[in-house]
Amino acid sequence: MNNHTKVLILAAGKGKRMKSTKPKVLHELAGKSMIMHIIDKCISSGLKDIYIVLGEQKQQILNTINNTKVKVINQKKQLGTADAINSAKKHLGDFNGRLLILYGDMPLIKKETIKNIVNNTNNSFSLVGFISENPKGYGRIIKKDKQIAVIEEKNASKEIKKVNLCYSGILCGPNKEIYKSLSKIKKDISTGEYLFTNIFSYLCESKKPIKILTYSEDELMGINDREQLSYAEDLLQKRIKLYHLKNGVTLLAPNSIYISSNVKIAKDVVLEPNVFLGNNVVLKANVRVKSNSYIEDSYINSFSEVGPTCRIRKNTQLGKNVKVGNFVEIKNSKIGNNSKINHLAYIGDSKIGTSTNIGAGTITCNYDGIKKNKTIIGNNVFIGSNCSLIAPVKIGNKSFIAAGSTISNNVDKNGFSIARAKQQIIKNGRSKFLKV
Ligand code: UD1
Ligand code: MG
Repeated sequence: MNNHTKVLILAAGKGKRMKSTKPKVLHELAGKSMIMHIIDKCISSGLKDIYIVLGEQKQQILNTINNTKVKVINQKKQLGTADAINSAKKHLGDFNGRLLILYGDMPLIKKETIKNIVNNTNNSFSLVGFISENPKGYGRIIKKDKQIAVIEEKNASKEIKKVNLCYSGILCGPNKEIYKSLSKIKKDISTGEYLFTNIFSYLCESKKPIKILTYSEDELMGINDREQLSYAEDLLQKRIKLYHLKNGVTLLAPNSIYISSNVKIAKDVVLEPNVFLGNNVVLKANVRVKSNSYIEDSYINSFSEVGPTCRIRKNTQLGKNVKVGNFVEIKNSKIGNNSKINHLAYIGDSKIGTSTNIGAGTITCNYDGIKKNKTIIGNNVFIGSNCSLIAPVKIGNKSFIAAGSTISNNVDKNGFSIARAKQQIIKNGRSKFLKV
């Protein structure tokens, strides 16, 4: 056997227990699909030859793993985990190295564990398990003298159900031996499937030793239904938050905060309660995100403040020391250093310069019913409260827009613009108007 390792990830199962039209492995944890979690972990642990078995829902899954270099194998009918591995025989059967078999529904595995399993598998087999307080549903690992077996829950006696050493779905070992034993597996009577877990009695016949490696259930749990999915999300959120806490981020009421897996947060950032950070958010040093704020796909530079209760949508960039206050929504916009949008505003498809003040209730009217248009606002501009800026429109540096204006024409540098109906004052007009 050579020293090379190939990975085979099984992800063709129907995922019926999830009760979803979406393939099971596309359900997300911390903003990333289960299948991408495991593929990324394989890549970051240095494994390059990754094969993935897909079935009926292949196209949907391929759409999300578009950019990765995994090789796809088709399992025509979902006849069980052994059949899934067998469908890769054409591609892998002759390979003379080590095969690492993983299941697509174990997204919490860490790269260190993958490395550890591979490094511990030298001319032997590694069967990977975990101890569970509630082992229901998992295959149980039974060891008697030199015989090792994995008994599925459906086939387990009362005694075996008490065993809490569970099979994770991971096997690593000499590829050719695995395929040799796999060919001996017969259809399981109770499930009507070819169960991969029946391989172990055949592997025992080969002369190579089988090691049982155990790691934590928190890493190896399988996700088959929504309850397990939400439990895993909880575990992953704790892991993500711990990572940020260790890097110098303060979390107030951490249980109420949600952080996606690829969020980048620098030192001395403070996140207040009920903050949601979606995918691709970058928060630079000393940013403060106040309560009930929702941010996704955005970059927030140092010393800026966001919220409470604001929404920063896709493709927004806030410069340094920007203040975005309550009930403000920003989308696809760039806001320069030291600018302020403190109350009740909508800024969309806009570019705002530095040290500009956007008054309360100001709206960029970016959509004309057909297309989105740009609003360009310069540096040191003052936009009064309750203005409507009808895009496309440009507002020059150091200009001033009076409160309540509806601006549809460009305003020059240093200009002043007022666009509202003139106020009328009628002396003693109240009684005439009310006819009293
Ligand atoms: C499996 C194991 C069980 C183990 C548990 C760990 C078997 C028979 N049972 O049970 O011992 O304790 O995982 O989580 O392996 N798949 C295919 N093609 C198929 C069927 C399944 O590719 O025809 C894929 C699924 O997409 C999934 C993986 O194989 O990623 C495991 O299948 P699943 O149905 O989740 O098995 P479990 O019942 O969880
Ligand atoms: Mg499973």
